[in-house]
Amino acid sequence: MIIPHVLLVVALSGALAFLASREAITRVATRHLAYKAEQLRDFAHSEWEAITDLGLEEDPRFRIAAQESLRSYAASLLRSPSEAIVAFDTRGDTVMRVGGTGESDDELRDGNATGGGSSLDQPPESGWFSGDLFGQSRVGVVFDLESFEWTVAVTELQEAFFTDAERIQRTHLGILLAAIVSVTLFVWFYVGYLIRPIERLTDTIRHITTTNDLSRRATVEFRDEVGVLANGFNRMITRLERKQVRLQEAMEAEKTARETAIEREEETLLLLGHAAEFRDRETGEHLKRIGLLAELLAELLGVSREKQELIRRSSPLHDIGKIGIPDNILLKQGPLTSTEREQMERHTVVGYDLLKDSRSQYLMEGAEIALTHHERWDGTGYPSGLKGTDIPVNGRIVALVDVFDAMTSERPYKCASSPEEAHEEILKGRGKQFDPSLVDLFHEHYPAFRRIVER
Ligand SMILES: [Fe+2]
Ligand SMILES: [Fe+2]
Repeated sequence: MIIPHVLLVVALSGALAFLASREAITRVATRHLAYKAEQLRDFAHSEWEAITDLGLEEDPRFRIAAQESLRSYAASLLRSPSEAIVAFDTRGDTVMRVGGTGESDDELRDGNATGGGSSLDQPPESGWFSGDLFGQSRVGVVFDLESFEWTVAVTELQEAFFTDAERIQRTHLGILLAAIVSVTLFVWFYVGYLIRPIERLTDTIRHITTTNDLSRRATVEFRDEVGVLANGFNRMITRLERKQVRLQEAMEAEKTARETAIEREEETLLLLGHAAEFRDRETGEHLKRIGLLAELLAELLGVSREKQELIRRSSPLHDIGKIGIPDNILLKQGPLTSTEREQMERHTVVGYDLLKDSRSQYLMEGAEIALTHHERWDGTGYPSGLKGTDIPVNGRIVALVDVFDAMTSERPYKCASSPEEAHEEILKGRGKQFDPSLVDLFHEHYPAFRRIVER
């Protein structure tokens, strides 16, 4: 950004100096010609005065002699072949010509214009002259010589007049170009020296803020202000990185603790379930399978992953209330009396009462399942005779999978049915004992349920 500005300033000042030098050289050259013109006029005046003092001004021989003397003096003023002094009469005809390249030099005609291209329509105006003379581009100073009734031009070939100026300008141009190149290189390296460390530092900051990668450090190139800044930045990032590592370790420890707590809770839930199952002569495997079957059915129903986990961990508690049923009823061989059955059915309420006041989400879910897993879709279940969707969905799910797994399990008091027989039984209970939509899902994905009970 800074380089174009510097170059512009150098180029502008160079161009101004370039123009000023041309102007100055031209002025000097002009003065040089004007000085010769003055010399010539003074000489003519003194010659003419001498003639008039003697009263010989009317004698043409003295007049011609004075003009011849002026021509000689004019010739002595010339310093280069490109200079020329020309005199015109009042009609614009050349009456004297001294110097100038080409053609005949040193002419003097007595009042008659001769020579190719040496006649003008009228003599040039006094003052600065610039124009065509003898077919050449010339510049010069013109003055009137009243005594001879001449107009005299002290001239120089335009090309030669500007030669010095142009030579100096060419040198000047060379110096200007060299200055531009050296300033560019200097600025390039100096700016690079100053800016590069800042760019690297900002790159590092950008990298860290966009990627959160705290392992990156700024490069410290020099022990200047930027280097001090980069050092400070690096120290700050090191401190941040240490803190981040400690935070990550704390988070890892917290995560492990949480997972351990969940594991312990799950273990406790299974142990609780076992306590009831021991009394009912059921097995721990039944409880695990109930969890897996209930989780599968919940997944097929499209509930969230969290709810699936919840039902897997809580469903083993469905018969926890059997702890409160006396052994003579729970373990009785043969049919129960109606009073005994009523007492037996109370395991749902006992289980609910046991778990309902807990703050654990698993135990609260278990309480609901314990209470409702013997309700039937047609409203003929117990303990509340709830019907259809009034029965909580977790109760409806466990009702189905409990029957399926119990039928396919061998118990001391009964043989196991085949999964197909249990499947048939479930289909028979569609819309009666079981939620029809759950039965449909079970039927549709029966192979997956069968794989679980066959493990
Ligand atoms: Fe039960
Ligand atoms: Fe069961």
